[in-house]
Amino acid sequence: MIIGLTYNLKGDYGGTSGPEDSEAEFDSEETIENLVFALKRCGYDVIRLPYEPDLLDRLRREKPDLVFNIAEGLGGRNRESLVPAILEFLKIPYIGSDPLTLGLALDKATAKVLVAAHGIPTPRFLKIESPGELSFDGRCIFNYAQNLHSLNFPLFVKPNCEGSSKGIQNSSKVDNLPGLLDKVELITKVYRQPALIEEFLDGREFSIGIIGNEELIAFPILEVEPGYQVEAGGFVYSYETKSRNLERFICPASIPRDLEDKIRAIACRAHRVLGCRDFSRIDVRLDSRGNPYFLEANPLPGLSQVSLFPLVASAAGLSFVELINRIVSIAIERLKKEREAFEGGPEVCGLEMADVPQDYRYKRAQEVR
Ligand SMILES: Nc1ncnc2c1ncn2[C@@H]1O[C@H](COP(=O)(O)OP(=O)(O)OP(=O)(O)O)[C@@H](O)[C@H]1O
Ligand SMILES: [Mg+2]
Repeated sequence: MIIGLTYNLKGDYGGTSGPEDSEAEFDSEETIENLVFALKRCGYDVIRLPYEPDLLDRLRREKPDLVFNIAEGLGGRNRESLVPAILEFLKIPYIGSDPLTLGLALDKATAKVLVAAHGIPTPRFLKIESPGELSFDGRCIFNYAQNLHSLNFPLFVKPNCEGSSKGIQNSSKVDNLPGLLDKVELITKVYRQPALIEEFLDGREFSIGIIGNEELIAFPILEVEPGYQVEAGGFVYSYETKSRNLERFICPASIPRDLEDKIRAIACRAHRVLGCRDFSRIDVRLDSRGNPYFLEANPLPGLSQVSLFPLVASAAGLSFVELINRIVSIAIERLKKEREAFEGGPEVCGLEMADVPQDYRYKRAQEVR
């Protein structure tokens, strides 16, 4: 069985004139090599399929039996949907979420509307295209165009359609109108997209890795903490923090059982409401009273050596190879069921996963406190 690995490689897109985090969402050569290694250890043949102009031709010509898609695509809010859409056009089965879910999750405001409609708590927000849309009555922020909500400071301003902490800075938390307008200007001008303004949640932060479809497995909950001195309630898991490794992870998080249940429920319900498939990572944060809220969903979670998803899997005792093995098996099982349910769906080669030797467990498992 041949698995095609679709991805965007850092450095493949001619450098950039944009902000320093422009390439943050793309994968390194090391990550691709680790994935190729893991898939081969699981018994598959692998072809590398970088996101390049000839991708469509190569997919047609090389016809992989299954695609492991981690391509982020290029440009605009539909970028993550592009490769899965091409795969559907070519009737090539693939691992992971479909174009609609990837687009939905990338457009954070749309994802929030959907999860909120299903009763999942998420911070109140406005999405705006330019600073001119805002008005302030001394206490609350209004938006003329939507006129739906009013928000109270402190607020958090982020790009509506980014991931990998792009456009997220320690200063993304704003306490007053001039600060807010500055951030909105930065996001609309530099990141060239709408700004998402949310009420700031000043509590602890968690991330939940999920695998599965009909039955979901949530890995141990991970807490992200500042690894440096920060004023109480002021921590932001920003690009600066991430790129300088200034965070600390605690997995499993040390939290009471009832909070753990609530956080898991939010994550699993969000995964389902957004239609995530096979695997995802959901970010959750607490308010000052300790109530958990959905922040955002990552149906294409990072799979690098320092990404949270392999880390939470390692806390559950899964090595990287075992994790990839599980994801592929879960996808194959789903595809087989889809094939049974819908005549004419993509063909899926039958394949039973080989047992993966224990000696490939991640060393990082021991590093997790
Ligand atoms: N409403 C909020 N209140 C407090 N902090 C927030 C809020 N929204 C975002 N943050 C902070 O900013 C960080 C990044 O936000 P978010 O998860 O939305 O961005 P992202 O770039 O998609 O993340 P990822 O790197 O997980 O893809 C969060 O982990 C959190 O620390
Ligand atoms: Mg996040």
